[in-house]
Amino acid sequence: MVLIDGKQTAADIKKEIAAEVEEILARGGKRPHLAAILVGHDGGSETYVASKVKACEECGFKSTLIRFEDDITEETLLDAVRKLNEDEDVDGFIVQLPLPRHISEQRVIEAIDPSKDVDGFHPVNVGRMSIGLPCFKSATPAGIMTLLERYNVPTKGANVVVLGRSNIVGKPVATLLMQKAAVGDATVTVCHRETRNLKEICRNADIIIAAMGRPGFVTEDMVKDGAAVIDVGTTRVPDASRKSGFRLSGDVDFNAVAPKCSFITPVPGGVGPMTIVSLMRNTLQAAKQRAAEA
Ligand code: GUN
Repeated sequence: MVLIDGKQTAADIKKEIAAEVEEILARGGKRPHLAAILVGHDGGSETYVASKVKACEECGFKSTLIRFEDDITEETLLDAVRKLNEDEDVDGFIVQLPLPRHISEQRVIEAIDPSKDVDGFHPVNVGRMSIGLPCFKSATPAGIMTLLERYNVPTKGANVVVLGRSNIVGKPVATLLMQKAAVGDATVTVCHRETRNLKEICRNADIIIAAMGRPGFVTEDMVKDGAAVIDVGTTRVPDASRKSGFRLSGDVDFNAVAPKCSFITPVPGGVGPMTIVSLMRNTLQAAKQRAAEA
């Protein structure tokens, strides 16, 4: 069994990005600039955004964090998005989700200039990805694909089962894995809460990608010997022994499942760090595209 080390892979890629930034600066180019909008004080979002700002420092990027309170109006938020679209210094930006209920996430996402949408959430980027055109791929699916690539997990002709059909993970990772590509060419089944015979479907999988946000959902009896298991779950479960009062739990019963696997990702330290590094890659790509067009 190979434990896929997302933390180390992410550290390696951040070094590669930082070296490329140094080259750009040495040639007289501009430092890549990522901006993030954070609305409210959700604990998970605060942590994610702080990690993104820290990753920017590690990669040699400039970062700007724009904060609003929960009671911001949709119009004010849309104005902030429009300003970032027009800001010549900003190469890419994200609006951290979830947003308060009175704001339409879809309207906000669609207001982002697709050429600055480094989250890859705008329908233009989602559509381009689905037909295999150059685009910003959303960060978690791109991070999963990088792990499969760097660990040489065979995908060609493989039966892949994706658990969960979210717009952020399940749908895009299924789309990427079915593409005609070196990491791709898989036969993909997407399962969700209405799926019948879910256990049997999983037992036939060469690769399981678990992304439903249900701690410990994938048990040993659902995994065939030699399968690769990618755990995208990051549910906060109460844990009085931790200073924070919680720990992150994946969607896979790791201790029982790991001995059967050819490859498995831990939580934390698997897919999570790769998500942030994919955002950094997209930001570098955005900066290079903008420099080429200038
Ligand atoms: N909330 C959870 N994951 C993400 C992400 O990848 N991007 C943004 N903007 N919000 C998120």
